[in-house]
Amino acid sequence: MCGIIGYVGYRNTVPVLVKGLEKLEYRGYDSAGVACIDYQKGGISLIKEKGKLSVLKEKIGDFSIEAHIGIGHTRWATHGEPSRANAHPHIDASGKIALVHNGIIENYAELKHSLQKKRVRFLSQTDTEVGANLIGHYYRKSRKLFDAVKRAVGELHGFFAFVLFSKEDPETLIAYKRSNPLVIGLGQGENFVASDVTALLPYTRQVIYLEDEDLAVITAKEVSVYSLKSKSWVRRHVSTVHWDASQAQKQGFPHFMLKEMHEQPEVLKKILSKKIQKGKSIFFDTLDKKFQQSLRKIKRVSMISCGTAYHAGLLGSIAIEQYTRLPCRTQVSSEFRYGDPILDHEDLVVLITQSGETADTLAALREARSKGAITLAVVNVVGSTVAREADAVIYTHAGPEIGVASTKAYIAQLSTLILLAFHIARLRKTISLSELKGLLREFKKIPDQCAKMLKENKKFEECAQKHYTRRNFLYLGRGCNYPTALEGALKLKEISYAHAHGYAAGEMKHGPIALIDHEQPVICIAPDSTTYDKMISNIQEIRARDGIVIAIGTKGRKELEKMADDFFPIPKTLEILSPILTVVPLQFFAYHIAVLNGRDVDQPRNLAKSVTVE
Ligand code: G6P
Repeated sequence: MCGIIGYVGYRNTVPVLVKGLEKLEYRGYDSAGVACIDYQKGGISLIKEKGKLSVLKEKIGDFSIEAHIGIGHTRWATHGEPSRANAHPHIDASGKIALVHNGIIENYAELKHSLQKKRVRFLSQTDTEVGANLIGHYYRKSRKLFDAVKRAVGELHGFFAFVLFSKEDPETLIAYKRSNPLVIGLGQGENFVASDVTALLPYTRQVIYLEDEDLAVITAKEVSVYSLKSKSWVRRHVSTVHWDASQAQKQGFPHFMLKEMHEQPEVLKKILSKKIQKGKSIFFDTLDKKFQQSLRKIKRVSMISCGTAYHAGLLGSIAIEQYTRLPCRTQVSSEFRYGDPILDHEDLVVLITQSGETADTLAALREARSKGAITLAVVNVVGSTVAREADAVIYTHAGPEIGVASTKAYIAQLSTLILLAFHIARLRKTISLSELKGLLREFKKIPDQCAKMLKENKKFEECAQKHYTRRNFLYLGRGCNYPTALEGALKLKEISYAHAHGYAAGEMKHGPIALIDHEQPVICIAPDSTTYDKMISNIQEIRARDGIVIAIGTKGRKELEKMADDFFPIPKTLEILSPILTVVPLQFFAYHIAVLNGRDVDQPRNLAKSVTVE
């Protein structure tokens, strides 16, 4: 959370920073700001405002600044309320250093206290200003910004990234990374640094992903990286980004979320064409022989993730247990990492994350590695920290996802985890070749089936029209579609702010049934499955109490259609694959309810796409 950007080069800086912040705004939108060295005046110009980037843009319109170096920030508040004073960039007390920050400085309170004793004045409640002032304190002594940052970060606890400059050296940006992401974009006579490659794509595809404890010195002509870990100057690998910049645009859709939902069939096609070979084997190009060998020997599996990715992990666990017969647990990263998990070299720990930067998932990965487990990252963002730190990675190929509510990345995670389960099952010979061929035949139908469902948009909207003023929704599912119930409820609450609760249908009698009356909508996910009859019984129980039934089931299930107030059919498929389809109506339902309520679909309040604080 929080997006940071820096630029040094021949272009006029402020428009570059603002354009970058537009791409990073999904990371936080409590306030935004830019600081640069004004070419004419020679001093620091600082413009920051509470609220979204649009407020800042309006303010910037009043200024005409020519600058060739600058930094920008879009904030998700941690320390200090969203306000202009707490907005970044922050300037140190001497007025010489401007800094933007993503993450948390854990020992900021004691450092602030000791700086205050030295008569340093603070203007905000943020931990960031402590970082700026500590650097400023050492800069006053050494007059060398690089040395001052190096010294200061050694005293700061927590996980964070900084980008800063001093008005006394108008040619140089300094960037520092500890856990939170920073990527440098390499240009001709200009260079960039940002939290995320999407901000760099309009200018360059050549990037350097900084590693932890890297301190980069960035000028228009060159980039040098010093590793505080190895205590030496290092040469970091230059990667080429293959993402298409147009993927990060709305392309005529009113919201990124809607656009991303419509991209789902293509994402599925891409995954299947990349990972299925000749309809009879699964191929993960990023898993080497040694890693595959280790997959044959594992005794247990854990699926660890947060938010939507956690729901994908729940289905991944079912697939692993069903096809590989290995025991598999699913846990949210924050519980796993503090739970002192019992792990050894026979454990496979799968970290599922769209961004590859979620702080708790990253910490869970480190915990698993420290205990000797084999770690595998299932990640969307190429080159992200989780992808780089795990023993192996499988990419989910969903392309950039900008809408805060995850859609296409979720179905990409589901598909990838199911394929992973099939793959491990073949390695361990717990399914036969002909079984696998049958499974893959059905899998290959999924992209077209998903495309067909997108055409039902009008029906989803009509259903949302009926219910958008309601404040409570219950989602029920069983087995493979219990995770779908959780995901459907999460989608609705995230973007519409209505209360929505996902529950295992078998547990309805143990509590939620008390909620049911003629005003309670219950979304029942009941495709053909081994528990279909049980779901029907649950729906009867809801009907008997006058509840409103919105059902999702397999096409042709007349009895279900009759029982439901609204029925959304999915094409016939295997139970294990059904969650890829059943989630689609739920995404649309949530989307339309949010739009009808006038919510900010792509940037819901209080949320951020990438949660890089614990
Ligand atoms: C945030 C996002 C969710 C996402 C979760 C985990 O809460 O708003 O959409 O599912 O983080 O993120 P990750 O990047 O690890 O999948």
